[in-house]
Formats: sequence, structure tokens, C-alpha cells
Amino acid sequence: RHHVLSLADFTAAEYNTVLQTAASFQEVLSRRTKKVPTLQGQVVANLFFESSTRTRSSFELAAKRLSADTLNFAAATSSMTKGETILDTAKTYLAMGTDIMVVRHREAGVPNAIAAEMDRLGVKVSVLNAGDGQHEHPSQALLDLFTICTLIDPASPRLELLKGKKIAIVGDILHSRVARSNIWSLIASGAEVHLAAPPTLLPKLFAEYILEEAGVKNQNFIISSSPTPHSPLPTPQLFLHWQLEPALQNADFVMTLRLQKERMTAHLLPSLREYHQLFGITSTKLQLCKPNVKVLHPGPVNRGVEISSELMDDPEFSLIQSQVTSGVAVRMALLYLIGSSKV
Ligand code: CP
Repeated sequence: RHHVLSLADFTAAEYNTVLQTAASFQEVLSRRTKKVPTLQGQVVANLFFESSTRTRSSFELAAKRLSADTLNFAAATSSMTKGETILDTAKTYLAMGTDIMVVRHREAGVPNAIAAEMDRLGVKVSVLNAGDGQHEHPSQALLDLFTICTLIDPASPRLELLKGKKIAIVGDILHSRVARSNIWSLIASGAEVHLAAPPTLLPKLFAEYILEEAGVKNQNFIISSSPTPHSPLPTPQLFLHWQLEPALQNADFVMTLRLQKERMTAHLLPSLREYHQLFGITSTKLQLCKPNVKVLHPGPVNRGVEISSELMDDPEFSLIQSQVTSGVAVRMALLYLIGSSKV
């Protein structure tokens, strides 16, 4: 694999390679020196056309821990303000000797367009999607996977550990690239994935589209709004709910999603207060889940909206800080595997 643009076509072997490589880099990061010379001489350019805190910083730190040289681009302070195009910007970084481009953009498909241009030019530059519009956020889903798998088996994180686990993804599914990438990885693991959102954030048409896409890989899914979904299929894997409770019932993990106000065109429905009341995750609602349930959130968080402030900071349940920590090792793994063309 030359580029990582989507998890839709990732194989189980590829997921496990990323997980095992990230585990070995986690060990490197626990050492005093924290660095390896693996990508010495290579240039990693972070091309962020949309704002970011954790993805940009952890890709930068990951590249530095691998001894690569890093270039950081932010659209607002770049020559794009003078009219330079996205592809001309990418070619400018190519001309400086960039080996890996990490690309974020608010429109879906921009990383793919840059990758296509690099391929057309016949250059050996890899493109990593760091989040494109409502499409995908592969490195986030991989770090979520790594966070969960290392919790179950720190010595040997692997995809199979999630087989049969119930995982609820709650919130703004419609606008979430994180949800889409997580759906691919969790279905590949054999987990039971429950999406829960109000109808405005999981419209029926969009739900059918997700199911159709998922159906290409796996026929076992069901739409349900009842507390006890019934499926004619033997092992349903993807459930959709317009209520929170059936998704939380006996869940092993709950992934909460940020309400992406910047991507909403209509007046927000439900309101933030209504959303928190109906779908916000709190300690009380968590009692529906398994006793040792853990809660994830990709960040940034709207405190007190998708998750209560108190639960967000509770180390017994919240994996939010672990997710950020995992991000460095997982992104080291991606840069290393792409840099040495092993994924
Ligand atoms: N989770 C995530 O992508 O966060 P940032 O927008 O801060 O990178």
C-alpha cells in the first residue's frame, strides 16, 4: 500500500500489522530516549488545510520520534491566502523533497486528489488522510482500535480481540468522518456495532447509504429502533438506532462523537440542551452498559453536550486521554509502514 486514504479496503492482516507495529513503538516511547533512526533523511509534511490540535501535533511528534524532518503547513498563514491552489501547494512541498504528505481538509476527497496527482507525476510520495470532510479519518479509527485492543491485551493488541464485543457509536454520525472509519475497522474485527443518533444526525437516507456501503463487505446488518432488535440474519453486526438506550444496553465500549456545528447548515435540531438530555453520555446512562464499560471520544469535546464533564474526567470510565497518547504510537506505525511501503 502506497497511500492510506480510507479504511474501507483495509484487510485484517493490515489492521494487525498496524496494531503490532504501534505496540512496538509504544515500547520505544516508554524508553528514556524515545527515538529511533528509522526515517532519518525523510521529510514528512503536515498539510493541514483545516484546523487541528491532536492530529497535527501527534503526526509531527510521531515523525520526529522516527527521526524524520517535519514541515508544518497551516492554510491560514500560507500563500493560499494569495490564491495558490491545493495541488500547487502540494507540488511546492514535493519540490522541497517531501516523502510523506499528511493531509487534512474540510472537503471530502482532497487527500485522494493530491495522491492521484502524485501518482500522475510518477513520484514516490505517499499521502496519509488526516481527516477529509465527512468522509474518513483513518488514523483516528486506528488509534481508537489500538486503545481498545491494548486495554484488553496490552502485550498483544490484535483485531480478533473485539470479536463479539458490543460497541456503541453515539452522536453526530451524519457529519462524522471518525464514525465512518470506525465502522470499517469495527466491522472487520467482528464486533457488534450499534449506531445511535437523533434522526436529524442519522437520517434514514444516510443510514441506508451506510448500510449499502457496509453491505459491500458484510451482509449482516439491521436497522432498528426497538430496544430488542430482531434480525433474520444469524450474526448481525451493524445496528442503527434513533434512541440511545438500545445502543447502550450491555455495551462494552461507548464511542461518543462531537456535534460538528461547523458542518451543520440547518438550525441545530435538537438543541444542545435537548441533545444532551436525550443522547449525552452521563454516569447514570452508563449504568445500562456492562459494569466495566469504557467511554471514548475523538476530541475536541463539547463538554457537557455529548458527554458530561464529570464523566469525561473520570479515569475509571474515560479513555479520552489514552486515545491521545495512543495517537503518537499509531501514527509512528503508519509513517514507518508507509515509509518502508509495508502496509
Ligand atoms: N480527533 C481529531 O481529529 O482532533 P483534532 O481535530 O484536534 O486533530
